[in-house]
Amino acid sequence: MGRASTTRGAPAVTHLRIHPSILSADFARLGEELAAISTADAAHIDVMDNHFVPNLTWGPPVVQRLREVSPVPFDVHLMIEDADRWAPRYAEIGCESVTFHAEAAIAPIKLARQLRSNGAQAGMALRPATPVEPYLDLLAGGELDLLLVMTVEPGFGGQAFLEVTLPKIRRAAQALLGSQVPVALQVDGGITEETIARAAEAGADVFVAGSAVYGAQDPAEAIAALRRSAARS
Ligand code: DX5
Ligand code: ZN
Repeated sequence: MGRASTTRGAPAVTHLRIHPSILSADFARLGEELAAISTADAAHIDVMDNHFVPNLTWGPPVVQRLREVSPVPFDVHLMIEDADRWAPRYAEIGCESVTFHAEAAIAPIKLARQLRSNGAQAGMALRPATPVEPYLDLLAGGELDLLLVMTVEPGFGGQAFLEVTLPKIRRAAQALLGSQVPVALQVDGGITEETIARAAEAGADVFVAGSAVYGAQDPAEAIAALRRSAARS
């Protein structure tokens, strides 16, 4: 049923969350594409700057307008350099959760606090080859609401899930059981009905899926199928 604990360490069942990524949506119909995932827990918004990753998407004005029409909260994933400068803006414009990359933030503790004081949950992401161990104290110390373990190299949708990240997900899940506040463990990249089961078994509880949702005939049915598969493990 996914990783779970209370702040006192007693077992509890957490809610498994499905966050479709609009990177795989039809960009000419983004409002309708958001309406099509109203059964999801949030929409995953990939912000890319063509420097941190070799791809470019949207910035604050577009994200702000999309948030106004979205039926679900926004989970923003910033694949940008200079995260310290730009991340707080996404909290100011009403995004419920803002995730910066550990590799791009100069002062992650200050940044996480700033995001929270601007009313957003604070998330930190790790590229597939970035170890989690240097960040364990930060995670245990209650500074973050979410850890994102990338399960593909960030930059593009539709890539294959990197199995090599599973031990890191497992170690992170174990470490998060002892944290002072609940920290969600998100995976992003190559999540399908098949790989979601392995990620859930390893301890992830928030699942980003782009092509698996927007590549399906019926996005709502794809979300339901992902939920069933994650809950089974
Ligand atoms: C990749 C993005 C992902 C992407 C996932 O850099 O961070 O959110 O949209 O797409 P799929 O689910 O197709 O791998
Ligand atoms: Zn993403």
